[in-house]
Amino acid sequence: MTEQIVKPIDSIVAESKKSIQPFLFKRLEGRRPKLPGKKTARVITVASGKGGVGKTNLVANMAICLAQAGRRVIVLDADLGLANIDVIFGVRPKKNITEVINGSCTLEEIIVTGPSGVQIIAGGSGISELAQLNPEASKILFREMKLLEDKADYFLIDTGAGISQNVISFCLAADQIVVVTTPEPTALADAYGLIKVVSQQRNDANLWVLVNRVESQEEAGFILNRLQTVAWDFLKFRVQQMGFVPQDKYMYLSVRQQTPLMLFSPMSPAALQIRYIVSNAFNEQAPEELESKGIDGFIERLSQLWNWDKA
Ligand SMILES: Nc1ncnc2c1ncn2[C@@H]1O[C@H](COP(=O)(O)OP(=O)(O)OP(=O)(O)O)[C@@H](O)[C@H]1O
Ligand SMILES: [Mg+2]
Repeated sequence: MTEQIVKPIDSIVAESKKSIQPFLFKRLEGRRPKLPGKKTARVITVASGKGGVGKTNLVANMAICLAQAGRRVIVLDADLGLANIDVIFGVRPKKNITEVINGSCTLEEIIVTGPSGVQIIAGGSGISELAQLNPEASKILFREMKLLEDKADYFLIDTGAGISQNVISFCLAADQIVVVTTPEPTALADAYGLIKVVSQQRNDANLWVLVNRVESQEEAGFILNRLQTVAWDFLKFRVQQMGFVPQDKYMYLSVRQQTPLMLFSPMSPAALQIRYIVSNAFNEQAPEELESKGIDGFIERLSQLWNWDKA
Protein backbone atom coordinates (compact mmCIF):
# COMPACT_ATOMS: atom_id res chain seq x y z
CA MET A 1 0.00 0.00 0.00
CA THR A 2 2.75 2.41 0.95
CA GLU A 3 4.38 1.57 -2.35
CA GLN A 4 1.25 2.68 -4.17
CA ILE A 5 1.12 6.01 -2.37
CA VAL A 6 4.58 7.07 -3.48
CA LYS A 7 3.85 6.40 -7.14
CA PRO A 8 2.73 9.43 -9.14
CA ILE A 9 -0.79 9.31 -10.52
CA ASP A 10 0.58 9.33 -14.11
CA SER A 11 2.55 6.16 -13.56
CA ILE A 12 -0.42 4.49 -11.90
CA VAL A 13 -2.60 5.43 -14.87
CA ALA A 14 0.01 4.07 -17.31
CA GLU A 15 0.35 0.89 -15.28
CA SER A 16 -3.40 0.43 -15.09
CA LYS A 17 -3.77 0.98 -18.85
CA LYS A 18 -1.30 -1.82 -19.48
CA SER A 19 -3.15 -4.22 -17.26
CA ILE A 20 -6.69 -3.21 -18.16
CA GLN A 21 -7.28 -5.59 -21.05
CA PRO A 22 -6.61 -8.88 -19.31
CA PHE A 23 -8.57 -7.60 -16.33
CA LEU A 24 -11.55 -6.64 -18.47
CA PHE A 25 -11.68 -9.98 -20.17
CA LYS A 26 -10.84 -12.01 -17.13
CA ARG A 27 -13.84 -14.20 -16.56
CA LEU A 28 -14.57 -17.04 -14.28
CA GLU A 29 -11.19 -18.74 -14.47
CA GLY A 30 -9.67 -19.42 -11.11
CA ARG A 31 -13.05 -19.65 -9.44
CA ARG A 32 -13.39 -22.76 -7.38
CA PRO A 33 -16.63 -24.61 -6.98
CA LYS A 34 -18.04 -23.99 -3.54
CA LEU A 35 -18.10 -26.75 -1.00
CA PRO A 36 -21.55 -27.48 0.32
CA GLY A 37 -22.36 -25.09 3.13
CA LYS A 38 -19.16 -23.07 2.64
CA LYS A 39 -19.67 -19.36 3.11
CA THR A 40 -18.04 -17.37 0.41
CA ALA A 41 -19.69 -13.99 -0.07
CA ARG A 42 -17.53 -11.17 1.18
CA VAL A 43 -19.55 -8.44 2.88
CA ILE A 44 -18.12 -4.95 2.53
CA THR A 45 -19.74 -1.86 4.03
CA VAL A 46 -18.84 1.53 2.59
CA ALA A 47 -19.39 4.48 4.95
CA SER A 48 -18.00 7.96 5.48
CA GLY A 49 -19.41 10.11 8.23
CA LYS A 50 -19.67 13.20 6.03
CA GLY A 51 -22.08 13.05 3.11
CA GLY A 52 -21.29 13.66 -0.52
CA VAL A 53 -17.74 12.30 -0.46
CA GLY A 54 -18.37 9.79 -3.27
CA LYS A 55 -19.48 6.57 -1.52
CA THR A 56 -22.30 5.73 -3.92
CA ASN A 57 -20.23 6.33 -7.03
CA LEU A 58 -17.36 4.30 -5.62
CA VAL A 59 -19.63 1.39 -4.65
CA ALA A 60 -21.29 1.37 -8.07
CA ASN A 61 -18.01 1.46 -9.95
CA MET A 62 -16.25 -1.06 -7.71
CA ALA A 63 -19.23 -3.36 -8.19
CA ILE A 64 -19.02 -3.08 -11.97
CA CYS A 65 -15.28 -3.57 -11.86
CA LEU A 66 -15.69 -6.78 -9.84
CA ALA A 67 -18.50 -7.97 -12.10
CA GLN A 68 -16.33 -7.36 -15.18
CA ALA A 69 -13.72 -9.59 -13.58
CA GLY A 70 -16.27 -12.38 -13.36
CA ARG A 71 -17.37 -11.93 -9.76
CA ARG A 72 -21.00 -12.09 -8.76
CA VAL A 73 -21.86 -8.88 -6.98
CA ILE A 74 -24.89 -7.80 -5.00
CA VAL A 75 -25.19 -4.17 -3.94
CA LEU A 76 -27.47 -3.17 -1.09
CA ASP A 77 -28.51 0.47 -1.12
CA ALA A 78 -28.78 1.04 2.61
CA ASP A 79 -28.93 4.82 2.39
CA LEU A 80 -32.10 5.79 4.16
CA GLY A 81 -32.20 9.44 3.33
CA LEU A 82 -31.12 9.88 -0.25
CA ALA A 83 -31.07 6.35 -1.59
CA ASN A 84 -29.70 6.91 -5.06
CA ILE A 85 -27.53 4.04 -6.16
CA ASP A 86 -30.28 3.20 -8.65
CA VAL A 87 -29.81 6.63 -10.22
CA ILE A 88 -26.07 6.09 -10.56
CA PHE A 89 -26.69 2.63 -12.05
CA GLY A 90 -29.47 4.00 -14.27
CA VAL A 91 -32.00 1.39 -13.07
CA ARG A 92 -35.36 1.77 -11.39
CA PRO A 93 -36.19 -0.78 -8.69
CA LYS A 94 -39.93 -0.72 -8.05
CA LYS A 95 -39.84 -2.53 -4.72
CA ASN A 96 -37.56 -2.38 -1.75
CA ILE A 97 -36.72 -4.32 1.38
CA THR A 98 -39.89 -3.09 3.13
CA GLU A 99 -41.93 -5.45 0.96
CA VAL A 100 -39.68 -8.34 1.97
CA ILE A 101 -39.97 -7.56 5.67
CA ASN A 102 -43.76 -7.41 5.51
CA GLY A 103 -43.81 -10.69 3.60
CA SER A 104 -45.44 -9.38 0.42
CA CYS A 105 -42.55 -10.54 -1.79
CA THR A 106 -39.26 -12.40 -1.68
CA LEU A 107 -35.85 -10.80 -1.68
CA GLU A 108 -35.22 -12.33 -5.09
CA GLU A 109 -38.28 -10.53 -6.46
CA ILE A 110 -37.00 -7.10 -5.50
CA ILE A 111 -33.50 -7.60 -6.91
CA VAL A 112 -32.85 -5.60 -10.06
CA THR A 113 -30.07 -6.41 -12.49
CA GLY A 114 -27.89 -3.43 -13.32
CA PRO A 115 -24.97 -2.87 -15.69
CA SER A 116 -22.49 -5.74 -16.13
CA GLY A 117 -24.88 -8.03 -14.25
CA VAL A 118 -24.54 -6.30 -10.88
CA GLN A 119 -27.52 -7.21 -8.70
CA ILE A 120 -29.09 -4.31 -6.84
CA ILE A 121 -31.27 -4.40 -3.73
CA ALA A 122 -33.04 -1.18 -2.84
CA GLY A 123 -33.20 -0.78 0.93
CA GLY A 124 -35.72 2.04 0.94
CA SER A 125 -37.57 2.83 4.14
CA GLY A 126 -37.13 -0.82 5.17
CA ILE A 127 -33.61 0.04 6.30
CA SER A 128 -34.92 2.15 9.19
CA GLU A 129 -37.17 -0.71 10.29
CA LEU A 130 -34.35 -3.25 10.49
CA ALA A 131 -33.21 -2.33 13.99
CA GLN A 132 -36.72 -2.89 15.41
CA LEU A 133 -37.90 -5.95 13.52
CA ASN A 134 -40.46 -8.17 15.23
CA PRO A 135 -39.54 -11.87 15.51
CA GLU A 136 -41.67 -12.85 12.53
CA ALA A 137 -40.21 -10.21 10.21
CA SER A 138 -36.66 -10.91 11.37
CA LYS A 139 -37.15 -14.61 10.61
CA ILE A 140 -38.34 -13.76 7.10
CA LEU A 141 -35.38 -11.50 6.46
CA PHE A 142 -32.96 -14.00 7.96
CA ARG A 143 -34.23 -16.75 5.67
CA GLU A 144 -34.25 -14.53 2.58
CA MET A 145 -30.77 -13.12 3.20
CA LYS A 146 -29.32 -16.59 3.71
CA LEU A 147 -30.57 -17.52 0.25
CA LEU A 148 -28.25 -14.88 -1.19
CA GLU A 149 -25.18 -16.72 0.07
CA ASP A 150 -24.99 -18.86 -3.05
CA LYS A 151 -25.66 -15.98 -5.39
CA ALA A 152 -22.83 -13.62 -4.52
CA ASP A 153 -19.07 -13.43 -4.25
CA TYR A 154 -19.28 -9.85 -3.01
CA PHE A 155 -22.04 -8.15 -1.08
CA LEU A 156 -21.41 -4.40 -1.11
CA ILE A 157 -23.38 -2.08 1.15
CA ASP A 158 -23.70 1.60 0.35
CA THR A 159 -24.63 3.53 3.48
CA GLY A 160 -25.91 7.04 4.01
CA ALA A 161 -24.16 10.05 5.48
CA GLY A 162 -23.80 10.40 9.23
CA ILE A 163 -22.89 8.07 12.06
CA SER A 164 -26.31 6.66 12.84
CA GLN A 165 -26.67 3.41 14.76
CA ASN A 166 -27.81 1.87 11.50
CA VAL A 167 -24.62 2.80 9.66
CA ILE A 168 -22.49 1.65 12.58
CA SER A 169 -24.34 -1.68 12.72
CA PHE A 170 -23.71 -2.31 9.02
CA CYS A 171 -20.03 -1.52 9.64
CA LEU A 172 -19.73 -3.75 12.69
CA ALA A 173 -21.44 -6.69 10.99
CA ALA A 174 -19.38 -6.60 7.77
CA ASP A 175 -16.22 -8.54 6.94
CA GLN A 176 -14.60 -5.34 5.75
CA ILE A 177 -15.32 -1.64 6.19
CA VAL A 178 -14.28 0.99 3.67
CA VAL A 179 -14.28 4.51 5.11
CA VAL A 180 -14.36 7.08 2.33
CA THR A 181 -13.14 10.62 2.89
CA THR A 182 -12.06 13.56 0.79
CA PRO A 183 -9.14 15.85 1.66
CA GLU A 184 -11.51 18.42 3.23
CA PRO A 185 -10.96 18.87 6.97
CA THR A 186 -14.70 18.37 7.68
CA ALA A 187 -14.71 15.04 5.82
CA LEU A 188 -11.54 13.97 7.63
CA ALA A 189 -12.98 14.88 11.01
CA ASP A 190 -16.14 12.89 10.28
CA ALA A 191 -14.14 9.94 8.96
CA TYR A 192 -12.12 9.94 12.18
CA GLY A 193 -15.36 10.12 14.21
CA LEU A 194 -16.67 7.05 12.38
CA ILE A 195 -13.39 5.18 12.88
CA LYS A 196 -13.50 6.03 16.58
CA VAL A 197 -17.04 4.72 17.07
CA VAL A 198 -16.30 1.51 15.14
CA SER A 199 -13.00 0.93 16.97
CA GLN A 200 -14.67 1.32 20.37
CA GLN A 201 -17.18 -1.40 19.55
CA ARG A 202 -15.00 -3.73 17.54
CA ASN A 203 -11.29 -3.28 18.01
CA ASP A 204 -10.45 -6.04 15.54
CA ALA A 205 -12.56 -4.52 12.74
CA ASN A 206 -11.05 -4.84 9.28
CA LEU A 207 -11.23 -1.14 8.39
CA TRP A 208 -9.73 0.48 5.30
CA VAL A 209 -9.58 4.16 4.36
CA LEU A 210 -10.00 5.42 0.82
CA VAL A 211 -9.44 9.09 0.04
CA ASN A 212 -11.45 10.38 -2.90
CA ARG A 213 -11.15 13.51 -5.05
CA VAL A 214 -7.45 14.09 -4.42
CA GLU A 215 -5.41 16.52 -6.47
CA SER A 216 -2.10 14.69 -6.08
CA GLN A 217 -0.62 11.51 -4.75
CA GLU A 218 1.30 13.51 -2.13
CA GLU A 219 -1.94 14.87 -0.77
CA ALA A 220 -3.41 11.35 -0.64
CA GLY A 221 -0.33 9.89 1.02
CA PHE A 222 -0.31 12.62 3.64
CA ILE A 223 -3.98 12.12 4.48
CA LEU A 224 -3.83 8.32 4.61
CA ASN A 225 -0.70 8.31 6.76
CA ARG A 226 -2.15 10.92 9.06
CA LEU A 227 -5.42 9.06 9.61
CA GLN A 228 -3.55 5.83 10.19
CA THR A 229 -1.20 7.45 12.71
CA VAL A 230 -3.92 9.31 14.58
CA ALA A 231 -6.09 6.18 14.80
CA TRP A 232 -3.16 4.23 16.22
CA ASP A 233 -1.90 6.94 18.60
CA PHE A 234 -5.29 7.89 20.03
CA LEU A 235 -7.41 4.77 19.60
CA LYS A 236 -4.79 2.01 19.38
CA PHE A 237 -6.75 0.93 16.33
CA ARG A 238 -5.20 -0.37 13.13
CA VAL A 239 -6.48 1.33 9.98
CA GLN A 240 -5.46 0.00 6.58
CA GLN A 241 -4.81 2.17 3.53
CA MET A 242 -7.00 1.31 0.56
CA GLY A 243 -5.63 4.08 -1.63
CA PHE A 244 -6.99 7.10 -3.42
CA VAL A 245 -9.13 8.17 -6.34
CA PRO A 246 -8.27 11.42 -8.11
CA GLN A 247 -10.61 14.31 -8.74
CA ASP A 248 -11.98 13.55 -12.20
CA LYS A 249 -14.41 15.58 -14.27
CA TYR A 250 -15.62 12.41 -15.97
CA MET A 251 -17.09 11.28 -12.66
CA TYR A 252 -19.39 14.27 -12.63
CA LEU A 253 -20.25 13.80 -16.32
CA SER A 254 -21.02 10.11 -15.76
CA VAL A 255 -23.45 10.98 -12.97
CA ARG A 256 -25.19 13.42 -15.30
CA GLN A 257 -25.51 10.69 -17.92
CA GLN A 258 -26.67 8.14 -15.33
CA THR A 259 -24.00 5.81 -16.62
CA PRO A 260 -21.41 4.55 -14.15
CA LEU A 261 -17.95 5.93 -14.82
CA MET A 262 -16.58 2.43 -15.41
CA LEU A 263 -18.78 2.24 -18.51
CA PHE A 264 -19.00 5.92 -19.41
CA SER A 265 -15.26 6.52 -19.42
CA PRO A 266 -13.34 3.36 -18.46
CA MET A 267 -9.97 4.92 -19.22
CA SER A 268 -10.52 8.11 -17.23
CA PRO A 269 -8.12 8.66 -14.31
CA ALA A 270 -10.68 7.86 -11.60
CA ALA A 271 -11.91 4.72 -13.40
CA LEU A 272 -8.37 3.42 -13.82
CA GLN A 273 -7.57 4.09 -10.21
CA ILE A 274 -10.76 2.39 -8.97
CA ARG A 275 -9.80 -0.64 -11.04
CA TYR A 276 -6.31 -0.56 -9.56
CA ILE A 277 -7.71 -0.36 -6.02
CA VAL A 278 -10.16 -3.19 -6.60
CA SER A 279 -7.51 -5.46 -8.05
CA ASN A 280 -5.12 -4.68 -5.18
CA ALA A 281 -7.20 -4.21 -2.06
CA PHE A 282 -9.66 -6.93 -2.95
CA ASN A 283 -6.61 -8.79 -4.15
CA GLU A 284 -8.37 -10.46 -7.05
CA GLN A 285 -8.48 -13.51 -4.83
CA ALA A 286 -11.46 -15.75 -4.70
CA PRO A 287 -13.37 -14.47 -1.67
CA GLU A 288 -13.20 -17.85 0.02
CA GLU A 289 -9.46 -17.40 0.48
CA LEU A 290 -10.08 -14.34 2.57
CA GLU A 291 -11.44 -14.47 6.05
CA SER A 292 -15.07 -14.00 5.24
CA LYS A 293 -17.99 -14.98 7.38
CA GLY A 294 -20.27 -14.48 4.42
CA ILE A 295 -23.83 -13.25 4.37
CA ASP A 296 -24.71 -15.80 7.05
CA GLY A 297 -22.13 -14.29 9.40
CA PHE A 298 -23.24 -10.78 8.50
CA ILE A 299 -26.88 -11.43 9.26
CA GLU A 300 -25.99 -13.31 12.48
CA ARG A 301 -23.99 -10.33 13.69
CA LEU A 302 -26.77 -7.91 12.74
CA SER A 303 -29.28 -9.98 14.64
CA GLN A 304 -27.05 -9.86 17.74
CA LEU A 305 -26.53 -6.12 17.40
CA TRP A 306 -30.25 -5.52 17.04
CA ASN A 307 -31.42 -8.21 19.46
CA TRP A 308 -33.73 -9.74 16.88
CA ASP A 309 -34.18 -12.99 18.72
CA LYS A 310 -35.18 -11.09 21.83
CA ALA A 311 -37.60 -8.85 19.94
N1 LIG B 1 -13.39 11.33 -7.91
C1 LIG B 1 -14.33 12.24 -8.16
N2 LIG B 1 -14.09 13.27 -9.01
C2 LIG B 1 -15.03 14.22 -9.25
N3 LIG B 1 -16.26 14.19 -8.72
C3 LIG B 1 -16.58 13.21 -7.86
C4 LIG B 1 -15.63 12.19 -7.54
N4 LIG B 1 -16.23 11.32 -6.67
C5 LIG B 1 -17.48 11.81 -6.47
N5 LIG B 1 -17.69 12.93 -7.19
C6 LIG B 1 -18.93 13.72 -7.23
O1 LIG B 1 -19.41 13.88 -5.91
C7 LIG B 1 -20.82 13.85 -5.90
C8 LIG B 1 -21.29 13.04 -4.73
O2 LIG B 1 -20.98 11.68 -4.94
P1 LIG B 1 -21.80 10.51 -4.27
O3 LIG B 1 -23.26 10.70 -4.45
O4 LIG B 1 -21.22 9.24 -4.74
O5 LIG B 1 -21.44 10.75 -2.74
P2 LIG B 1 -22.03 10.03 -1.46
O6 LIG B 1 -20.92 9.94 -0.47
O7 LIG B 1 -22.67 8.76 -1.85
O8 LIG B 1 -23.14 11.05 -0.97
P3 LIG B 1 -24.26 10.78 0.15
O9 LIG B 1 -23.56 10.86 1.47
O10 LIG B 1 -25.23 11.92 -0.04
O11 LIG B 1 -24.86 9.45 -0.11
C9 LIG B 1 -21.27 13.26 -7.23
O12 LIG B 1 -22.09 14.17 -7.89
C10 LIG B 1 -20.02 13.00 -8.02
O13 LIG B 1 -20.09 13.55 -9.30
MG1 LIG C 1 -24.63 8.04 -1.51
